[in-house]
Amino acid sequence: MSAGGKKTACVTGGNGYIASALIKMLLEKGYAVKTTVRNPDDMSKNSHLKELQALGPLEVFRADLIEEGSFDDAVAGCDYAFLVAAPVNLRCEHPEEELIEPAVRGTLNVMRSCVKAGTVKRVILTSSASAIYRTPPQGEGHVLDEDSWSDVEFLRANKPPMWGYPVSKVLLEKEASRFVAEHGLGLVTVCPVVTVGTAPAPNALTSVPNCLSLLSGDEAEFAVLRGVEKGSGTVALVHVDDVCRAELFLAEEESAAGRYICCSLNTTVVQLARFLVNKYPQYNVKTSLLSDDLLEKPRVCLSSAKLVREGFEYKYKMLDEIYDDVVGYGKALGILPK
Ligand SMILES: NC(=O)c1ccc[n+]([C@@H]2O[C@H](COP(=O)([O-])OP(=O)(O)OC[C@H]3O[C@@H](n4cnc5c(N)ncnc54)[C@H](OP(=O)(O)O)[C@@H]3O)[C@@H](O)[C@H]2O)c1
Repeated sequence: MSAGGKKTACVTGGNGYIASALIKMLLEKGYAVKTTVRNPDDMSKNSHLKELQALGPLEVFRADLIEEGSFDDAVAGCDYAFLVAAPVNLRCEHPEEELIEPAVRGTLNVMRSCVKAGTVKRVILTSSASAIYRTPPQGEGHVLDEDSWSDVEFLRANKPPMWGYPVSKVLLEKEASRFVAEHGLGLVTVCPVVTVGTAPAPNALTSVPNCLSLLSGDEAEFAVLRGVEKGSGTVALVHVDDVCRAELFLAEEESAAGRYICCSLNTTVVQLARFLVNKYPQYNVKTSLLSDDLLEKPRVCLSSAKLVREGFEYKYKMLDEIYDDVVGYGKALGILPK
């Protein structure tokens, strides 16, 4: 609780795409927010945080996941800790060192700070649906829920494209569960699918350029989108506003426990291209990027039934709604021409 009697939340990685949207939502809902960035002086990454300070009490701290004790000040006095910062470089050369090790170590590092603080009621850990769907191929129509775990042994042995990211998420989730069992800290885990929509961050380097690649023609970004379909059998999408609403819902809902898939709909690259051709004819959708081996309809579906059963309602359910504001964001960020 802050001095002004507001509930206080820490959000790690405040210059990130999802974290920036979460900070905005928390301030709008009357929370005091403490956020962390690696370099508070870098205004090319943090300018939005200055602007968000107009919405309510927002403090910015310097912290790095790989520095032990780095988050002590940021979580001190907080009611909730939203762990959003994580290495997300899907295409890095050395996944064990660059993704997996810092992700796991960093998660435990922040959680140790939460125990030290003694005020944190619940940690809301942002994992990813990729911790769920990178399993050996499933039969047509298979529905994946929170009981499914990406196969770490298979991924480490076979090293398919982008294998390090799902491994990092599975391992950090498992270590976080082990940690809270030992230390009696509250924990819920959110597993968002590919996230779309506008956010305050002045850069978006992850899902936004992937999702706009059929409009921008960026082949490297398209390869990630295509890789998601290849690795999972679906392109599952959710609006960033719904991810943040789900994170807050799961923080505040007393009975929430365990993992929650956060997914509005399952589609495919081909279906997405068709939708974009109709909605944005002016962009000359790059259908030349499509190939015969892409799916006509999802082979598997990620189910968000647990979250909905427990009372969460998605605001953005259709492709049209999910994509509505991301094109404007892409233009503002220079991903798409103005
Ligand atoms: N976007 C999606 O579709 C999606 C879907 C599922 C899950 N997620 C998860 O959601 C979270 C946020 O993703 P995002 O898309 O918003 O990515 P993002 O914009 O790249 O944000 C990642 C954040 O993590 C920070 N970070 C990375 N390494 C760090 C370290 N060693 N110490 C401190 N901070 C570090 C980054 O800071 P710097 O700028 O300093 O590097 C950045 O603020 C991640 O955990 C991601 O796995 C995202």
